[in-house]
Amino acid sequence: TKRIGILTAGGDSPGLNAAIRGFGKAAISNGWELVGFRDGIRGLVENRFVQLDSSALSGILTVGGTILGTSRDKVHKMVVDGEVRDMRPQVLENLAVDGLDALVMLGGGGTAKNALRLVEAGANVIHLPKTIDNDIARTDTTFGFATAMEIATEAIDRLHSTAHSHHRIILTEIMGHRAGWLALGAGIAGGADIVLLPEIPYSVESVAETIKARLKHGSTFSVVAVAEGARDLHDTADLEAARLLVKSASTPEAARAAKAHLANVEDSQREHTFKLARELEAATGLESRVSILGYVQRGGTPCAADRLLGSRIGTAAAHAVSKGNFGVMVAARGEDTELVPLPEVAGHLKLVPPDHEWILTARKLRTGLGD
Ligand code: F6P
Repeated sequence: TKRIGILTAGGDSPGLNAAIRGFGKAAISNGWELVGFRDGIRGLVENRFVQLDSSALSGILTVGGTILGTSRDKVHKMVVDGEVRDMRPQVLENLAVDGLDALVMLGGGGTAKNALRLVEAGANVIHLPKTIDNDIARTDTTFGFATAMEIATEAIDRLHSTAHSHHRIILTEIMGHRAGWLALGAGIAGGADIVLLPEIPYSVESVAETIKARLKHGSTFSVVAVAEGARDLHDTADLEAARLLVKSASTPEAARAAKAHLANVEDSQREHTFKLARELEAATGLESRVSILGYVQRGGTPCAADRLLGSRIGTAAAHAVSKGNFGVMVAARGEDTELVPLPEVAGHLKLVPPDHEWILTARKLRTGLGD
Protein backbone atom coordinates (compact mmCIF):
# COMPACT_ATOMS: atom_id res chain seq x y z
CA THR A 1 0.00 0.00 0.00
CA LYS A 2 1.04 3.58 -0.60
CA ARG A 3 1.14 6.53 1.77
CA ILE A 4 0.68 9.90 0.11
CA GLY A 5 0.94 13.48 1.37
CA ILE A 6 -1.16 16.35 0.03
CA LEU A 7 -0.99 20.12 0.58
CA THR A 8 -2.41 23.39 -0.75
CA ALA A 9 -0.12 26.40 -1.23
CA GLY A 10 -0.30 29.99 -2.49
CA GLY A 11 -3.47 32.08 -2.62
CA ASP A 12 -6.63 30.08 -1.98
CA SER A 13 -9.02 29.38 -4.81
CA PRO A 14 -12.55 27.93 -5.01
CA GLY A 15 -12.36 24.25 -6.02
CA LEU A 16 -9.32 23.34 -3.89
CA ASN A 17 -11.46 21.17 -1.63
CA ALA A 18 -13.11 19.50 -4.62
CA ALA A 19 -9.64 18.55 -5.86
CA ILE A 20 -8.50 17.33 -2.41
CA ARG A 21 -11.67 15.25 -2.22
CA GLY A 22 -11.24 13.93 -5.79
CA PHE A 23 -7.68 12.83 -5.12
CA GLY A 24 -8.54 11.53 -1.65
CA LYS A 25 -11.52 9.43 -2.71
CA ALA A 26 -9.53 7.82 -5.53
CA ALA A 27 -6.57 7.27 -3.16
CA ILE A 28 -8.73 5.65 -0.50
CA SER A 29 -10.41 3.36 -3.00
CA ASN A 30 -6.93 2.29 -4.14
CA GLY A 31 -6.27 1.33 -0.52
CA TRP A 32 -3.73 4.12 0.06
CA GLU A 33 -3.29 6.19 3.18
CA LEU A 34 -3.53 9.95 2.83
CA VAL A 35 -2.12 12.67 5.05
CA GLY A 36 -2.75 16.39 4.60
CA PHE A 37 -0.05 18.91 5.51
CA ARG A 38 -1.34 22.05 7.19
CA ASP A 39 -0.73 25.53 5.81
CA GLY A 40 1.16 24.71 2.63
CA ILE A 41 4.96 24.59 2.52
CA ARG A 42 5.11 25.94 6.09
CA GLY A 43 3.38 22.84 7.46
CA LEU A 44 5.44 20.55 5.23
CA VAL A 45 8.65 22.00 6.67
CA GLU A 46 7.32 21.88 10.23
CA ASN A 47 5.88 18.38 9.61
CA ARG A 48 2.39 19.34 10.75
CA PHE A 49 -0.16 17.01 9.17
CA VAL A 50 -3.50 15.33 9.71
CA GLN A 51 -4.75 11.93 8.61
CA LEU A 52 -7.33 12.30 5.83
CA ASP A 53 -9.80 9.43 5.96
CA SER A 54 -13.14 9.32 4.17
CA SER A 55 -14.95 11.17 6.94
CA ALA A 56 -12.45 14.08 6.61
CA LEU A 57 -13.33 14.29 2.90
CA SER A 58 -17.06 14.21 3.46
CA GLY A 59 -19.04 17.43 2.97
CA ILE A 60 -16.13 19.49 1.59
CA LEU A 61 -17.05 19.56 -2.11
CA THR A 62 -19.09 22.73 -1.76
CA VAL A 63 -16.83 24.48 0.72
CA GLY A 64 -14.68 27.44 -0.39
CA GLY A 65 -11.02 27.97 0.58
CA THR A 66 -8.96 24.96 1.62
CA ILE A 67 -9.61 22.67 4.58
CA LEU A 68 -5.83 22.27 4.90
CA GLY A 69 -4.93 25.96 5.14
CA THR A 70 -2.30 27.64 2.97
CA SER A 71 0.72 29.95 3.02
CA ARG A 72 3.05 31.64 0.57
CA ASP A 73 6.59 30.35 1.14
CA LYS A 74 9.55 29.45 -1.03
CA VAL A 75 10.96 26.11 0.10
CA HIS A 76 14.54 27.01 -0.86
CA LYS A 77 14.40 30.48 0.73
CA MET A 78 12.20 30.31 3.76
CA VAL A 79 12.28 32.65 6.73
CA VAL A 80 12.80 30.41 9.78
CA ASP A 81 13.66 31.93 13.17
CA GLY A 82 14.37 35.26 11.45
CA GLU A 83 16.84 33.69 8.99
CA VAL A 84 16.42 32.86 5.29
CA ARG A 85 17.09 29.13 4.88
CA ASP A 86 16.94 26.36 2.30
CA MET A 87 14.42 23.93 3.78
CA ARG A 88 14.60 21.23 1.08
CA PRO A 89 16.74 18.85 3.20
CA GLN A 90 14.20 19.20 6.04
CA VAL A 91 11.33 18.40 3.67
CA LEU A 92 13.10 15.29 2.32
CA GLU A 93 13.74 14.15 5.88
CA ASN A 94 10.08 14.68 6.83
CA LEU A 95 8.85 12.75 3.80
CA ALA A 96 11.17 9.85 4.73
CA VAL A 97 10.27 9.88 8.44
CA ASP A 98 6.54 10.03 7.62
CA GLY A 99 6.98 7.12 5.20
CA LEU A 100 5.47 8.99 2.27
CA ASP A 101 5.77 7.64 -1.28
CA ALA A 102 4.68 10.85 -2.96
CA LEU A 103 3.56 14.42 -2.38
CA VAL A 104 0.65 16.10 -4.16
CA MET A 105 0.91 19.89 -4.28
CA LEU A 106 -2.08 22.05 -5.21
CA GLY A 107 -1.16 25.60 -6.11
CA GLY A 108 -0.35 28.26 -8.68
CA GLY A 109 2.83 29.42 -10.39
CA GLY A 110 4.82 29.75 -7.15
CA THR A 111 3.80 26.24 -6.13
CA ALA A 112 4.87 24.85 -9.51
CA LYS A 113 8.33 26.32 -8.82
CA ASN A 114 8.41 24.81 -5.31
CA ALA A 115 7.26 21.46 -6.73
CA LEU A 116 10.08 21.50 -9.29
CA ARG A 117 12.64 22.40 -6.60
CA LEU A 118 11.52 19.39 -4.56
CA VAL A 119 11.56 17.11 -7.62
CA GLU A 120 15.14 18.22 -8.34
CA ALA A 121 16.00 17.42 -4.72
CA GLY A 122 14.72 13.86 -5.26
CA ALA A 123 11.07 13.88 -4.07
CA ASN A 124 8.15 12.27 -5.94
CA VAL A 125 5.88 15.25 -6.54
CA ILE A 126 2.77 15.97 -8.61
CA HIS A 127 1.40 19.49 -9.09
CA LEU A 128 -2.29 20.37 -9.55
CA PRO A 129 -2.89 23.83 -11.06
CA LYS A 130 -5.15 26.23 -9.19
CA THR A 131 -5.53 30.00 -9.36
CA ILE A 132 -8.33 32.43 -9.98
CA ASP A 133 -5.93 34.29 -12.30
CA ASN A 134 -5.80 31.43 -14.87
CA ASP A 135 -2.17 32.33 -15.60
CA ILE A 136 -0.51 28.90 -15.42
CA ALA A 137 1.25 27.72 -18.57
CA ARG A 138 0.34 24.50 -20.40
CA THR A 139 -3.14 24.02 -18.96
CA ASP A 140 -6.36 25.17 -20.63
CA THR A 141 -7.64 26.53 -17.36
CA THR A 142 -7.31 26.31 -13.56
CA PHE A 143 -9.91 25.63 -10.91
CA GLY A 144 -11.05 28.80 -9.18
CA PHE A 145 -11.08 30.84 -12.36
CA ALA A 146 -14.67 30.07 -13.38
CA THR A 147 -16.03 30.89 -9.90
CA ALA A 148 -14.09 34.15 -9.68
CA MET A 149 -15.34 35.07 -13.16
CA GLU A 150 -18.95 34.53 -11.99
CA ILE A 151 -18.39 36.82 -9.01
CA ALA A 152 -16.67 39.54 -11.06
CA THR A 153 -19.39 39.32 -13.73
CA GLU A 154 -22.12 39.73 -11.14
CA ALA A 155 -20.26 42.75 -9.74
CA ILE A 156 -20.09 44.35 -13.21
CA ASP A 157 -23.83 43.70 -13.67
CA ARG A 158 -24.59 45.43 -10.39
CA LEU A 159 -22.27 48.36 -11.12
CA HIS A 160 -24.09 49.00 -14.40
CA SER A 161 -27.34 49.98 -12.73
CA THR A 162 -25.74 52.36 -10.25
CA ALA A 163 -23.39 53.90 -12.86
CA HIS A 164 -26.39 54.37 -15.14
CA SER A 165 -28.55 55.97 -12.42
CA HIS A 166 -25.87 58.47 -11.39
CA HIS A 167 -24.39 59.15 -14.84
CA ARG A 168 -20.99 58.11 -13.55
CA ILE A 169 -17.89 56.30 -14.63
CA ILE A 170 -17.35 53.31 -12.35
CA LEU A 171 -14.01 51.56 -12.45
CA THR A 172 -13.93 48.12 -10.93
CA GLU A 173 -10.57 46.60 -10.08
CA ILE A 174 -10.50 42.87 -10.73
CA MET A 175 -7.73 40.50 -9.56
CA GLY A 176 -4.95 39.46 -11.92
CA HIS A 177 -1.57 40.97 -11.10
CA ARG A 178 0.22 39.64 -14.20
CA ALA A 179 -2.52 38.27 -16.48
CA GLY A 180 -5.85 39.82 -17.46
CA TRP A 181 -7.93 36.67 -18.03
CA LEU A 182 -10.33 37.41 -15.20
CA ALA A 183 -10.95 41.06 -16.11
CA LEU A 184 -11.30 40.16 -19.79
CA GLY A 185 -13.60 37.17 -19.26
CA ALA A 186 -15.81 38.97 -16.74
CA GLY A 187 -15.61 42.18 -18.78
CA ILE A 188 -17.04 40.44 -21.84
CA ALA A 189 -19.59 38.43 -19.85
CA GLY A 190 -20.71 41.50 -17.89
CA GLY A 191 -20.69 43.83 -20.89
CA ALA A 192 -18.09 46.26 -19.48
CA ASP A 193 -17.64 49.27 -21.78
CA ILE A 194 -13.87 49.28 -21.33
CA VAL A 195 -11.52 46.49 -20.21
CA LEU A 196 -7.92 47.23 -19.20
CA LEU A 197 -5.36 44.42 -18.97
CA PRO A 198 -1.72 44.10 -17.92
CA GLU A 199 -0.97 42.72 -21.39
CA ILE A 200 -2.19 45.87 -23.20
CA PRO A 201 -0.76 49.08 -21.71
CA TYR A 202 -3.45 51.76 -21.93
CA SER A 203 -3.37 55.45 -22.69
CA VAL A 204 -5.67 57.61 -20.59
CA GLU A 205 -6.56 59.59 -23.74
CA SER A 206 -7.79 56.46 -25.51
CA VAL A 207 -9.91 55.42 -22.50
CA ALA A 208 -11.34 58.96 -22.25
CA GLU A 209 -12.09 58.96 -26.01
CA THR A 210 -14.16 55.77 -25.66
CA ILE A 211 -16.15 57.33 -22.80
CA LYS A 212 -16.67 60.60 -24.74
CA ALA A 213 -17.82 58.66 -27.83
CA ARG A 214 -20.38 56.91 -25.63
CA LEU A 215 -21.50 60.28 -24.26
CA LYS A 216 -22.05 61.52 -27.82
CA HIS A 217 -24.35 58.57 -28.42
CA GLY A 218 -26.33 59.36 -25.29
CA SER A 219 -24.70 56.89 -22.87
CA THR A 220 -23.96 59.10 -19.89
CA PHE A 221 -22.22 56.38 -17.89
CA SER A 222 -19.41 53.86 -18.39
CA VAL A 223 -18.27 50.75 -16.57
CA VAL A 224 -14.53 50.06 -16.75
CA ALA A 225 -13.12 46.64 -15.75
CA VAL A 226 -9.52 47.23 -14.66
CA ALA A 227 -7.24 44.27 -14.04
CA GLU A 228 -5.17 44.76 -10.91
CA GLY A 229 -1.99 44.62 -13.02
CA ALA A 230 -3.16 46.99 -15.81
CA ARG A 231 -0.99 50.11 -16.19
CA ASP A 232 -0.78 53.08 -18.51
CA LEU A 233 2.06 53.26 -21.02
CA HIS A 234 4.34 55.25 -18.73
CA ASP A 235 3.87 53.05 -15.64
CA THR A 236 4.22 49.91 -17.78
CA ALA A 237 7.59 51.12 -19.04
CA ASP A 238 8.77 51.82 -15.45
CA LEU A 239 7.55 48.44 -14.24
CA GLU A 240 9.07 46.50 -17.12
CA ALA A 241 12.43 48.24 -16.69
CA ALA A 242 12.40 47.40 -12.97
CA ARG A 243 11.49 43.75 -13.66
CA LEU A 244 14.27 43.50 -16.23
CA LEU A 245 16.79 44.78 -13.66
CA VAL A 246 15.75 42.00 -11.28
CA LYS A 247 16.09 39.36 -14.02
CA SER A 248 19.48 40.55 -15.21
CA ALA A 249 21.10 41.16 -11.81
CA SER A 250 24.38 39.25 -11.78
CA THR A 251 25.45 39.57 -8.13
CA PRO A 252 23.50 39.07 -4.89
CA GLU A 253 23.95 42.78 -4.06
CA ALA A 254 22.63 43.84 -7.47
CA ALA A 255 19.70 41.44 -7.05
CA ARG A 256 18.86 42.89 -3.63
CA ALA A 257 19.04 46.47 -4.94
CA ALA A 258 16.96 45.58 -8.01
CA LYS A 259 14.30 43.90 -5.88
CA ALA A 260 14.11 46.90 -3.58
CA HIS A 261 13.75 49.18 -6.61
CA LEU A 262 10.97 46.97 -8.05
CA ALA A 263 9.15 47.03 -4.71
CA ASN A 264 9.37 50.85 -4.73
CA VAL A 265 8.00 51.08 -8.26
CA GLU A 266 5.16 48.68 -7.39
CA ASP A 267 4.41 50.64 -4.26
CA SER A 268 4.27 53.94 -6.11
CA GLN A 269 1.73 52.41 -8.52
CA ARG A 270 -0.50 50.78 -5.92
CA GLU A 271 -3.28 53.36 -6.26
CA HIS A 272 -3.29 53.27 -10.05
CA THR A 273 -7.02 52.63 -10.41
CA PHE A 274 -7.84 55.66 -8.25
CA LYS A 275 -5.37 57.74 -10.26
CA LEU A 276 -7.07 56.66 -13.48
CA ALA A 277 -10.48 57.56 -12.02
CA ARG A 278 -9.26 61.11 -11.30
CA GLU A 279 -7.75 61.42 -14.76
CA LEU A 280 -10.94 60.24 -16.44
CA GLU A 281 -13.06 62.60 -14.37
CA ALA A 282 -10.86 65.50 -15.48
CA ALA A 283 -10.88 64.40 -19.13
CA THR A 284 -14.61 63.67 -19.50
CA GLY A 285 -16.36 65.83 -16.91
CA LEU A 286 -18.20 62.76 -15.60
CA GLU A 287 -18.05 61.88 -11.93
CA SER A 288 -15.90 58.79 -11.34
CA ARG A 289 -15.92 56.15 -8.64
CA VAL A 290 -13.79 53.09 -7.90
CA SER A 291 -14.93 49.72 -6.61
CA ILE A 292 -12.17 47.26 -5.68
CA LEU A 293 -13.54 43.71 -5.77
CA GLY A 294 -10.69 42.24 -3.73
CA TYR A 295 -10.94 39.00 -1.82
CA VAL A 296 -14.64 38.35 -2.41
CA GLN A 297 -13.38 37.01 -5.76
CA ARG A 298 -11.43 34.26 -4.02
CA GLY A 299 -13.84 33.28 -1.28
CA GLY A 300 -16.97 31.21 -1.08
CA THR A 301 -18.44 28.13 -2.66
CA PRO A 302 -17.04 26.96 -6.02
CA CYS A 303 -19.32 27.00 -9.07
CA ALA A 304 -20.23 23.74 -10.82
CA ALA A 305 -17.49 24.11 -13.46
CA ASP A 306 -14.77 24.43 -10.79
CA ARG A 307 -16.15 21.51 -8.76
CA LEU A 308 -16.09 19.40 -11.91
CA LEU A 309 -12.58 20.55 -12.90
CA GLY A 310 -11.19 20.03 -9.37
CA SER A 311 -12.73 16.55 -9.24
CA ARG A 312 -11.34 15.62 -12.69
CA ILE A 313 -7.84 16.93 -11.96
CA GLY A 314 -7.82 15.35 -8.48
CA THR A 315 -8.81 11.88 -9.66
CA ALA A 316 -6.44 12.13 -12.66
CA ALA A 317 -3.62 12.90 -10.22
CA ALA A 318 -4.38 9.69 -8.31
CA HIS A 319 -4.16 7.78 -11.59
CA ALA A 320 -0.77 9.41 -12.30
CA VAL A 321 0.51 8.41 -8.84
CA SER A 322 -0.64 4.83 -9.41
CA LYS A 323 1.41 4.77 -12.63
CA GLY A 324 4.46 6.29 -10.91
CA ASN A 325 4.33 9.49 -13.00
CA PHE A 326 6.04 12.22 -10.99
CA GLY A 327 7.61 15.59 -11.72
CA VAL A 328 4.52 16.60 -13.67
CA MET A 329 1.52 18.92 -13.53
CA VAL A 330 -1.94 17.48 -14.20
CA ALA A 331 -3.26 19.82 -16.89
CA ALA A 332 -6.75 20.29 -18.31
CA ARG A 333 -6.63 19.74 -22.05
CA GLY A 334 -9.99 20.03 -23.83
CA GLU A 335 -12.29 17.40 -22.35
CA ASP A 336 -9.33 15.41 -21.09
CA THR A 337 -6.41 15.76 -18.71
CA GLU A 338 -2.74 15.57 -19.60
CA LEU A 339 0.54 15.27 -17.69
CA VAL A 340 2.99 18.10 -18.41
CA PRO A 341 6.63 17.99 -17.21
CA LEU A 342 7.14 20.61 -14.47
CA PRO A 343 10.04 22.41 -16.21
CA GLU A 344 7.53 23.38 -18.93
CA VAL A 345 5.27 24.98 -16.29
CA ALA A 346 7.45 26.48 -13.55
CA GLY A 347 8.45 30.06 -14.35
CA HIS A 348 6.23 30.23 -17.45
CA LEU A 349 3.31 32.61 -17.09
CA LYS A 350 0.28 32.23 -19.36
CA LEU A 351 -0.57 35.78 -20.42
CA VAL A 352 -3.45 36.81 -22.69
CA PRO A 353 -1.98 36.83 -26.24
CA PRO A 354 -2.80 40.10 -28.08
CA ASP A 355 -4.56 38.15 -30.84
CA HIS A 356 -6.45 35.83 -28.48
CA GLU A 357 -10.00 35.08 -29.52
CA TRP A 358 -11.37 36.80 -26.37
CA ILE A 359 -9.49 39.99 -27.33
CA LEU A 360 -10.87 39.79 -30.90
CA THR A 361 -14.35 39.23 -29.47
CA ALA A 362 -14.00 42.29 -27.22
CA ARG A 363 -12.86 44.39 -30.17
CA LYS A 364 -15.80 43.22 -32.31
CA LEU A 365 -18.12 44.18 -29.45
CA ARG A 366 -16.51 47.64 -29.58
CA THR A 367 -15.28 47.27 -26.01
CA GLY A 368 -12.53 49.82 -25.37
CA LEU A 369 -9.19 48.19 -24.56
CA GLY A 370 -7.39 51.47 -23.94
CA ASP A 371 -4.89 51.05 -26.81
O1 F6P B 1 -4.76 34.48 -6.38
C1 F6P B 1 -3.89 35.31 -7.13
C2 F6P B 1 -4.14 36.72 -6.75
O2 F6P B 1 -5.48 36.85 -6.93
C3 F6P B 1 -3.45 37.85 -7.50
O3 F6P B 1 -4.11 38.32 -8.63
C4 F6P B 1 -3.32 38.88 -6.43
O4 F6P B 1 -2.31 39.80 -6.69
C5 F6P B 1 -3.00 38.07 -5.24
O5 F6P B 1 -3.77 36.90 -5.40
C6 F6P B 1 -3.19 38.72 -3.92
O6 F6P B 1 -3.27 37.76 -2.92
P1 F6P B 1 -2.55 37.78 -1.51
O7 F6P B 1 -2.92 39.06 -0.86
O8 F6P B 1 -3.11 36.57 -0.83
O9 F6P B 1 -1.08 37.68 -1.74
